[in-house]
Amino acid sequence: MDLKDRLTELKFKALGEIETVEDLKRINEIRVNLLGKKGPITEVLRGMKDLSKEERPVVGSFANKVRDELTEAIAKRSEKLEIIKIAKKLEKEKIDVTLPGVSVKVGQSHIIMQVIDQLEKFFLGMGYQVVDGPEVEEDHYNFEMMNLPKDHPARDMQDTFYITNQILMRTQTSPVQARTMEKHDFSKGPLKMISPGKVYRRDTDDATHSHQFHQVEGLVIDKHITMADLKGTLQAIARTVFGDEREIRLRPSYFPFTEPSVEVDVSCFKCGGNGCSVCKQTGWIEVLGAGMVHPNVLTMAGIDSTVYGGFAFGLGPDRFAMLKYGVDDIREFYLNDVRFLSQFSQKGQR
Ligand code: PHE
Repeated sequence: MDLKDRLTELKFKALGEIETVEDLKRINEIRVNLLGKKGPITEVLRGMKDLSKEERPVVGSFANKVRDELTEAIAKRSEKLEIIKIAKKLEKEKIDVTLPGVSVKVGQSHIIMQVIDQLEKFFLGMGYQVVDGPEVEEDHYNFEMMNLPKDHPARDMQDTFYITNQILMRTQTSPVQARTMEKHDFSKGPLKMISPGKVYRRDTDDATHSHQFHQVEGLVIDKHITMADLKGTLQAIARTVFGDEREIRLRPSYFPFTEPSVEVDVSCFKCGGNGCSVCKQTGWIEVLGAGMVHPNVLTMAGIDSTVYGGFAFGLGPDRFAMLKYGVDDIREFYLNDVRFLSQFSQKGQR
């Protein structure tokens, strides 16, 4: 068989193979085998040295034509296989938009924060500022400046975590009163503030006690502040948190930093005052402590108590939340069980 015939036979065999090959890796192998240095075309061309001068260019150009044809066939087939591959991939990756989605769990404020947020919003609206204070506090601010000197018996009312003799975990938010009074410039207007935050007491945890809980302190200092201002403010708090029909009642009490001091009851939101299990059949629920700021407290903070006076109150958001939502164990707030917390959705809250 002469060289031209061998080339022609080779060409048809190769073309057949190229046409039917199904994968890209294989076609690359065919290309290397067929057209490479060790391939059959090179092999055939090697035999040209035995040809005559006249035959050589004829066979040479024929061989080149065969190589070009095969190269083109391989390129075409590769392109086609590439397209098929992409089409298959797209088919596999098709997104079914009718499948149900994955629901994303959205968090929410803790129930205590919801109560605090509601109170902040209310007081900001009345022109109060919201002030922060340290939880690790000095005895000086937590007690001394609140009219509770070292040997005062009322210190026993609040069991304290001491860190050193002088440093403690604050037992109340009242020290923020003293810190704010010291700094306030009365030439710029009256002092009206609330201070929400955590407080700590050396209590044994049970359904109604927690060694850590929350308070919101309130303080107003100006000229001519009376107990009527306090009562109106407390009434407004009670109605904001517990509903528009609520009444309040003040009972005499004792706090070292207020004189007179009062305990504040709100008419029962469950029975409207008739008596039920929530109000222990009394029609009233105790919700906070308050009073007119003691002159000693003003004097210690550098305020002239003959000119200025005011009121203060301290309320417990934990207790508010327990009452409002019927939670009977304060520890629930601190266990952070999402099943408990997620019951208090903010929808329709504010
Ligand atoms: N600090 C008091 C307490 O923790 C509450 C209070 C604050 C009472 C302000 C009167 C005025 O019991």
